[in-house]
Amino acid sequence: MKKFARIIGTGSYLPPKVVTNHDLEKMLDTNDEWIVARTGISERRIVEEEGTCDLALEASIKALEMANIDASELDLIILATTTPDKIFPATATMLQNRLGAKCPAFDMQAVCAGFIFAMTTAQQYIENGSAKKVLVVGSETMSKIVDWSDRSSAILFGDGAGAVVLSSDDETGILHSNIYSDGQYVSSLHVSNTRINEIGFIQMAGNEVFKIAVTRLSNSAKTTLRESNMTVDDLTWMVPHQANIRIITAVAKKINLPMEKVIITLSKHGNTSAASIPLALDVAVRDGRINKGDKLIFEGIGGGFSWGSLLVEF
Ligand code: ACO
Repeated sequence: MKKFARIIGTGSYLPPKVVTNHDLEKMLDTNDEWIVARTGISERRIVEEEGTCDLALEASIKALEMANIDASELDLIILATTTPDKIFPATATMLQNRLGAKCPAFDMQAVCAGFIFAMTTAQQYIENGSAKKVLVVGSETMSKIVDWSDRSSAILFGDGAGAVVLSSDDETGILHSNIYSDGQYVSSLHVSNTRINEIGFIQMAGNEVFKIAVTRLSNSAKTTLRESNMTVDDLTWMVPHQANIRIITAVAKKINLPMEKVIITLSKHGNTSAASIPLALDVAVRDGRINKGDKLIFEGIGGGFSWGSLLVEF
């Protein structure tokens, strides 16, 4: 019998320190009006002492609580992050230890598409019967790799974490997924170091990223719907990567999805990279917008480029 990877718990965590656009006006030649109009972002959270594992731990505890399972029952942990606490070991193994889990744990690096790649990987483990309970986390401390003197990128990013618990289910769950990569665009969006022991910061050709993101994300969403024999009218919600309100609006328009069906959290979170989709999901689950049986499409793109989409019955 076919098995599905079903979401049975969600959780999220934001560090307490709020940095508003007005705070950025004191550091950079920018203003609240420009940032809101060009990005949709009003504020973001920034870590002080906390690391990526600290944020992941808080989000995971909440997801496990909602799923009503103990960490010892997990068969696998996948942590999507661009900002691991150390080059090695994987941040996922540190999370495993702090949760008291015993299962294999590894990091997934696909930048802002990391959560989509991690969910797609978890889906394979559950569908082929290798795992019954999987914790998938997106956790980022993007503030550590932002060039705080670059007004075109520093305004975009924030820190946070989101997590889901997937469980093997006979009836429904992840219905379909597609992931893609195209490595010819490294210089469009990357961290500037040339050696691993050198410090680097985010560098981005914003306009180019914008155009590629809209095309690739809308094509991916259309393909995932078509291959599932579904149309956009079947969707209850889109939960997109929260990069820029103009990217989200353009993708929704290209796939003919009304904005009333899109979950938006970036005004308060900024772009939290691999954490943005599970963060938005958890917010909408806990405020009652997303309910059992809803059909959701997740989509995201990040440096590389890597991108993809995931269709889920919640
Ligand atoms: N405040 C004020 N002015 C600014 C700022 C700022 N923070 N940043 C740039 N400007 C200026 C520029 O210098 C430029 O001035 P000029 O006309 O005198 O040269 C003007 O504003 C317009 O600059 P553009 O770069 O053309 O502005 P654009 O409308 O493209 O917006 C932005 C820039 C917000 C970065 C946009 O391109 C974008 O969002 N791109 C997508 C990038 C993205 O989302 N990256 C996240 C990582 S990847 C991902 O998650 C998908």
